[in-house]
Formats: sequence, C-alpha cells, structure tokens
Amino acid sequence: MSAADPAGPQADRIWDLGLLFITLGSVVYAVVIGFLLYALWQGGRRVESVGGPAVEHGLTQWVAGAIVVTTVLLLGLLVANLAVGRATAEFAQPGALTIRVTGHQWWWEIEYADPEPSRRVVTANEIHIPVGRQVRVEVSSRDVIHSFWVPNLHGKLDLTPGYRASTVLRADRPGVYYGRCAEFCGLQHARMDFRVIAESPGRFAAWYEGQLRPGRAPATTLEQQGQQVFLSRGCVLCHTVRGSAAGSRVGPDLTHLASRGTIAAGILPNTRGHLAGWVLDPQSIKPGVLMPPNQLAANELRALLAYLQSLN
Ligand code: CUA
Repeated sequence: MSAADPAGPQADRIWDLGLLFITLGSVVYAVVIGFLLYALWQGGRRVESVGGPAVEHGLTQWVAGAIVVTTVLLLGLLVANLAVGRATAEFAQPGALTIRVTGHQWWWEIEYADPEPSRRVVTANEIHIPVGRQVRVEVSSRDVIHSFWVPNLHGKLDLTPGYRASTVLRADRPGVYYGRCAEFCGLQHARMDFRVIAESPGRFAAWYEGQLRPGRAPATTLEQQGQQVFLSRGCVLCHTVRGSAAGSRVGPDLTHLASRGTIAAGILPNTRGHLAGWVLDPQSIKPGVLMPPNQLAANELRALLAYLQSLN
C-alpha cells in the first residue's frame, strides 16, 4: 500500500503532483540552507569591513526578490494542485461500474448498484473490480464520518452521514490494493481496513456470478446444525445470509463469507481459528465493536464454523 506506487490514472496524477511538491520543496530548502551557510561565512568576515547604506540597499533587493520568487512558486503549486483536482474529478463514462460504499463503525458495506435489482450484490470489506474499467464509487455513512482511501488508486474521499459523495477510479494492473479508513471515527478507527482486488474482466465476471447466487444450503448434518445455531442464536439478529431466514443488515452480509480473504474489516485472515475467536469474543479483538460475545458450547461452535466456512 503506497501512494508512490500508482496503479491507475487518478493515483498517477496525484503522485506526479506529490513529486512536484517534493522536488520544489527540496530545491527551496537547499537554496535557503545555502544562503544561511553563506551568511554565516560572511558574518565571520564582517568584523573587518562593516557595511554601510550600500550593503543595506543590496539586502532590500534580495528580500524583495525572495518574496517575488516565493509568491510565484506558491502560485504555481496552487495552479498545479487545482489542475490535478479537476483532472481527477472526472465524470464516469457510460459503462462504468457503480459501487456504493457505506461506512459503519467499523466496517465497510459494499453494494454493486446494478440497474437491475436482481443483479445487485452486497458484500463487505472486499471490493472486486475489473482491470481497465472505470469504477464510480459512491460513498455515504451510517453513523459518523469515515474516509475511503486506497493510496494506490486514488486520494481520500470522506463518507458523511446523510450525504452522498462520489469519485471515479480505475485500476490499470491487477493486484490487491489495501485500503483503510482515513478519518478518525472512534475506538477502532485504526482497524477499519478493506481490500480492492483488481482482476481481469473474466475473473471479475466469474466472481460476480458467484456472489449473485443465494447462500449455499447446508450439505452435511454438521452444516445443518450450524445453520440452526446461526438462526437460533445471536447471529441472525444482525447478519444476512441470502436464501436463508437471516436478513438483517446491521452487520456485514455473510452470504458468501467463505469467499472473502479476511474477517473483522480486513484485520484477520479468514481462517477457522480466527473465525472461532471472533465469533466467541470479538470484544477482545476489537474492543468497542458492535458485535457482542457469543457463549457457545463446543459442539455448537464446531457446527457454526462448518456452516460459516461452507458459505463460499
Ligand atoms: Cu472509519 Cu476511521
């Protein structure tokens, strides 16, 4: 994750601007230090030849010159900044993919806003996008202000409750790009991560078709028991598994949980052990998170894990 490694045109422009600022800043710094050293060196020699009005006149010219140069440089940077702002605020072309991102304390709800309602996909914390295609990202928040930031792809975009903002980004090479919340939003702000998985259009389409399917029905007795645990204990109150009786949208949609690489908003790998720890005691992993601890018997936990891991 680095803004210095742009993977798309928007991040490219922003990084060029960053380079301009760094280069000009370095040159100005070197010149100022040069003058300082020169002044120190001259000061040592001043003891013999004390300057009169002529020297002061020269000094005034230098100061005036420095002010002019500084003003021109700052105006130049301002213009460059505005130009990049305009260039990266482009509008989505027809055919762009629209993704709605809703911020929650502390996870990301992702919805693919297909014009046809039956083709909408809802997931969490992992955004798949096809390489080379414009993606319009619409953001809002359910609670407090968050900020959507994928340094390799674009600058920051604030998620404000009751307000919809949008931007357009594009990934030009495949890869997994890390994103995180860039606006302090409470206790677990530092653990509000997500991933953008940029892949070939073919792989993206395959992933999308997979996500459109309802949640897999339990195939074994253990998975069946697990679904019963899911529906009879706390899980059902907050989570959706499409195709089952679970339809709450308080927490992340778990219809295809097993297809995701991480849990707990990008901070834990999606493995059986981490899933067990998270289900039993999320508060010790992310104190303050909305998900309560769940007291499950060993056989209930085993069944629930089998069910959750079958949701691919
Ligand atoms: Cu969400 Cu910081």
